[in-house]
Amino acid sequence: MDKIFIVLGAIVVTYVLVKLLKRKTLHPHIPFKYNFGKRRDTFAKVLELLHENNAKVLLETGTSRNGLKNTKGDGAATIVFGLWAKKNSAKLYSVDIDPISVQESEKEVKNQNLSEYVNVVLSDSVTYLKDFEQNIDFLYLDSYDYSEKDEDIQKKSQEHHLNEFKAIENKLHDKTVVLIDDCKLKGGGKGRLVIDYMLKNNWKILMDKYQVLLVKSN
Ligand SMILES: C[S@@+](CC[C@H](N)C(=O)[O-])C[C@H]1O[C@@H](n2cnc3c(N)ncnc32)[C@H](O)[C@@H]1O
Repeated sequence: MDKIFIVLGAIVVTYVLVKLLKRKTLHPHIPFKYNFGKRRDTFAKVLELLHENNAKVLLETGTSRNGLKNTKGDGAATIVFGLWAKKNSAKLYSVDIDPISVQESEKEVKNQNLSEYVNVVLSDSVTYLKDFEQNIDFLYLDSYDYSEKDEDIQKKSQEHHLNEFKAIENKLHDKTVVLIDDCKLKGGGKGRLVIDYMLKNNWKILMDKYQVLLVKSN
């Protein structure tokens, strides 16, 4: 009987250890319990570049509609980059067309004491970007939801992300970092058209993972 308990104990300990080792965290920036999965490495690289570049103006399209609850599914970028903005006296603008997404994102922004550093705006992203007046140090494109099944939605999502980029292109500079979400998906993901366009216009890919990270190629 004792042997059974020892074997069971060893299995449980091994299981917990494997789970902990596989956890893709952004610790110490975000508490260890949050797992960022397929976005962890690209988020970590962006945070490193923001430091190097002393970034001040960050802009995200598509806000964290689940606050910090869905770090693995949606990414929770508003909170990840909002916390960075607070520590580094920067400002994050996060635009979303859905009032519920805005409301839920704002709830977590307040909960994390980030209201001074994060501005969640209710608007269509392309309209908002066209009127944005500051130069941007970090641009994160993650709005119009993509579908792996519906080709019409794929096309609309890809065109929307391309239109976002074109709307803000003249506010980007030599050190601007651009991150595009949901790229490694059937049909090319959100980034298919915008990445093609950027590669033809003096940008290069720095990381090509689930998310694609681009910088100016000079
Ligand atoms: C995947 S979520 C964004 C996740 C968020 N970036 C994060 O890291 O947690 C996509 C969001 O894009 C928003 N969206 C869809 N179409 C949009 C548009 N035309 N303009 C602005 N936001 C849009 C949706 O309302 C939704 O909240």
